Order: sequence, then C-alpha cells, then structure tokens
Amino acid sequence: MSEIRICGYRPLSGEINVQGSKNGVLPMLAASLLQRGTMRFTNVPIIQDVACMVGILESVGCRCWFGRNVLSVDASGILGTEIPKADVKKMRSSILVMGALLGRMGKAGAWYPGGCSIGSRPVDLHLLAFSGLGACVKEEDGRIEAWGRMEGGRILFPFPSVGATENALLASVMAAGETEICGAAKEPEVIGLCSLLRQMGALIEGDGTDRIRIKGGRELHETEYAVPGDRIAAGTYLTAVTAAGGDAVLWGAPWESMETVIRSLRGCGADIEPIIGVGGTVAGAHIRMEGRPKPARIRTGPYPEFPTDLQSPMLSVLSLAEGESVLTETVFEARFKTAGELVKMGADISVSGNQAMIRGRERLSGTRVRAWDLRGGAALVAAGLAASGETVIEDCIHIERGYEDICRDFQFLGGDICWSA
Ligand code: UD1
Repeated sequence: MSEIRICGYRPLSGEINVQGSKNGVLPMLAASLLQRGTMRFTNVPIIQDVACMVGILESVGCRCWFGRNVLSVDASGILGTEIPKADVKKMRSSILVMGALLGRMGKAGAWYPGGCSIGSRPVDLHLLAFSGLGACVKEEDGRIEAWGRMEGGRILFPFPSVGATENALLASVMAAGETEICGAAKEPEVIGLCSLLRQMGALIEGDGTDRIRIKGGRELHETEYAVPGDRIAAGTYLTAVTAAGGDAVLWGAPWESMETVIRSLRGCGADIEPIIGVGGTVAGAHIRMEGRPKPARIRTGPYPEFPTDLQSPMLSVLSLAEGESVLTETVFEARFKTAGELVKMGADISVSGNQAMIRGRERLSGTRVRAWDLRGGAALVAAGLAASGETVIEDCIHIERGYEDICRDFQFLGGDICWSA
C-alpha cells in the first residue's frame, strides 16, 4: 500500500512545471481509434490512468510507444470491439473508448465503469448519445453493448456531462450526416478534444457553447498534438500554496481555463498573477500567499463554475481560514469523504447533504489519514503541507492515477514530503 509522509508547516517556494492534462488526454487517446495511421501526442502525463488507457488501446489491437511524455498510437490494425472488464472497473473514462469503437468498428462492448468512489456516476447519458445516433444499445447484467450503423441526429443532454459529451463527439464524427449536441458540456477538455478532432479532419462547430454541431462521416487522419497543461493539477498546487503560504511559479498552468479558481483563491487572500511569455501568451502563474486564508462561500458546478475536482483541495484551504466558510457540491453526491480525514487533522467541518460548513482553525495537526479518492488524496497532501507535525496519507494509489509525482513537485517547492512505501 503506498503512503505519503509529510512534515508540514513551512511555506512552499520555488518553481515547477505543470503536467499535461489527465482529463484532456484520455478522450484524445480514445480519438486515436478513429483514424488508421499513427497519432503522436506530446506533453502526455505519466500517470496510472494513461497507462490504463494505453492498455485498453493495446487490447483492441493498437500498438503504443511511450517515452518521456511522448506517446504514439498506431491504430492501423484494430480488431477488437470489447473493452476488458478489469480496465473498465479501474477507470471510468474507459467508457470513452466505446464511442470511438462504435464509430470505427460499428460495435462496442463494455462493463459498467469504475473510477473514484465519489457518487453513483451512471452512464445513461453516454448511452442516450449512442441511441440518438441510431445505434442499438443493450444493457444486461452489468454489461453494455452498442452496435449498428449510425447517422447524424439530435442529442439532447438534460445535464452537461463531460464524458457523455466527449463520447457523443467521438461517435458522431463517424456518423454520416449532421449531428447537433444540445446541452453539451463546455469544459476546456471538450474544447481540446474538438480541436484535436478538427486537426484530424473533422468538421465541428460550437464547442465551448452548449450547442455543438458536427458534420460527420469524413475520413479522419493521423496528426500530432500537444496536450495542454492540467488545470486541476495546477489548481491543486495553487490551493496548497494558499493553505501553507509561500511564493511559487507554476510553468505551463493553463491560465485561461482557471479563471474561477484563480478568482476564488484571490478571494482567500492569495496574490496570483499570470506570467506573460513570448508573443504575449501566458506561460504560467505566479502565486504569493502570506498569513491565514480568508473564508469564502464556494459552489461547484459545470464549467465555467468552480470545478468539483478542486472542491476537496479547497476544503483544506478553508479549514485554515480566519472565519466560517460554506462549500456546496452540486456535481457529485458523495464527494465529502475527505472532510472526515481533515477533521482527524483538527479541522472543524460539518457536512449536511451537499453542503459543508467549515469553521477555520488556526492550525491543523499532522496525523494518519486516508486518501479515499484521487482529488481527496491531493487535498490531504495540501493539508499535510500546511499542518504542523507529521502527516501520513494511506492509500495513495488513488493519487497516482492523476498526478505524475506529487511528492517530486512539492519537493521542488521545498516541501518535506516523500513516498514511504
Ligand atoms: C469528468 C472528469 C472528472 C470531473 C467531472 C465533472 C474526466 C476523465 N473526468 O468526469 O474529473 O469531476 O467530469 O467535471 O474527464 N451523469 C449522469 N449520467 C451519465 C453521466 C454523468 O447522471 O451518463 C452525472 C454524474 O453522475 C455526475 C454528473 O453527471 O453527477 C457529472 O458527471 P460527468 O460530467 O459525466 O463527469 P465525468 O465525465 O465522469
């Protein structure tokens, strides 16, 4: 069982490079299946979820090469249409391979997906997208099958699900005719997938709004693509500095997609400024924080609202705030498990339904805690770096799903943190 040990209560100062986006690269890897050549991705994060996606691609017949954040996927010889059960259970995004396989092979089978234990996370909207394109869908004994010739259609989502929008895109670019996705998610990762698909030859308009239009049925071709920086990993580091104090530079933080997070952390007292690079583009973010955070009222929601993935890290910040805060979770129903761990560290948090009331304490104290999920684990790292004494986080395997090496990154910022088993 992998553990992280932290001796906290010291400011974080230094510079780090932000890894490529986990949630961005996973649908892009699934998109590799839609062409018959070799895709080349750069700035790919070396994390468990990418390894799992590579395993799935190989299991259906792709050949993959991974070296130093560059991943090539040769999808010329796909034969399989079934996503292995073990992989689907490990990672929810494996369901994205279904849309792509359905598009390429006319058939796809999978088991109900797993992933973090943060709520029920059904896949009904994914299946609604497939049937909206004319595919037949069968659900039986925990298995899902979809097959048939797809044609452009109108898909109407009652909730802007990120994964279902991505699956709808992956399937509809191969469906002949025009498709309209209404109620689409506007997340930067959806825009990233559309931009990759366009570079592969697809005709897509309207991404970044709730209505995406696709002219499908075109032959797509191989391309090379640089995965953008991970806004959630960058946000995790910003919350850690806001909690522990310090002065840090995050190179490659995707500033444009972090507006709500930056505004919220500025509200807590952090001084965060963009670093302007060559040609006037933003090359990163510079954060300075002194003293205790100010309290806040934060509500998670679909983009551009505050990301649910940073709700737990924000809980760590607000546990140390000078006053009372309220955090409302509107996306996933069971995402406050980390609150119980923070309470073990001395936080004063009461959860009622989808709301957490946080009465900030002057100090948290290190103790033994458990990472229940990926972002909850990262939140405990942020709390441990701010807390006095030693924090030991158990079950850090969840953290490895999404962060290349969270200990290495915080060591660069002067943190006394290491993997211990
Ligand atoms: C993606 C992100 C995840 C993030 C989430 C919300 C990836 C790999 N993961 O997950 O990090 O927390 O977006 O920003 O990109 N829902 C349904 N039926 C469905 C699909 C979803 O009811 O078929 C519900 C879910 O239970 C949840 C809500 O919709 O309550 C949001 O889920 P969704 O946007 O689909 O999240 P994911 O794509 O799984």
